[in-house]
Amino acid sequence: MSDRYGLSRREILGIAAAASGLAVSGGFTAAFAQALKRTPGEILGPFYPVLKTLDRGADLTTIAGKPGRAAGQVIHVMGRVMNVEGQPVKGVRVELWQANTHGRYTHPSDTNPAPLDPNFEGFAVQNTDAEGRYRFKTIKPGAYPATASWMRPPHLHFEVTGKINRTITQMYFPGEPLNDKDLLLQNIRANKEGLIAKVLPPTSDVEPDSRIVVWDIVLDKG
Ligand SMILES: [Fe+2]
Repeated sequence: MSDRYGLSRREILGIAAAASGLAVSGGFTAAFAQALKRTPGEILGPFYPVLKTLDRGADLTTIAGKPGRAAGQVIHVMGRVMNVEGQPVKGVRVELWQANTHGRYTHPSDTNPAPLDPNFEGFAVQNTDAEGRYRFKTIKPGAYPATASWMRPPHLHFEVTGKINRTITQMYFPGEPLNDKDLLLQNIRANKEGLIAKVLPPTSDVEPDSRIVVWDIVLDKG
């Protein structure tokens, strides 16, 4: 794990509180004011959404006009976009796309026979706020076969566009056995750990059976 996750539980919960719009402690920014490693890039992959305009909302677990909720483990994915100096970067476009809980994308190129979820489309976009924060409510995606002999571990795809830098990459969950066999993740040469999120218990302001997923994104300049 990188230094920036050498935080106390109180500070980690501070991240969650900050991302949920609660008060930010004064010492928080100073803790990040150090050189960080750039988040490595990964391939765009075949399932970048092509069918629809991206939902600008932060909640992927429901679809406007439909009463149901997406199947699967609800997660609140949050973090900050920073530059390598540790400064938060505001106004960065953070785009997310992912498979559903069964490991199926809502995409015409996905030939996985796993079921679609009528309550989950799996993509959204936001801009970071003045503190560089982003936050999505979604579900943990399932693993899926990339080839007959290669199962992709659960992961979220991100495209992160600042004024100077743009990164296309993927976020992974800690402790997944498939991580160790994943050809894309294991092909990362530098700062592989920068693609692994931290999973925490739910805070008091979210569903008690949900999880908090904290993942910061580091651009060179912003
Ligand atoms: Fe994928």
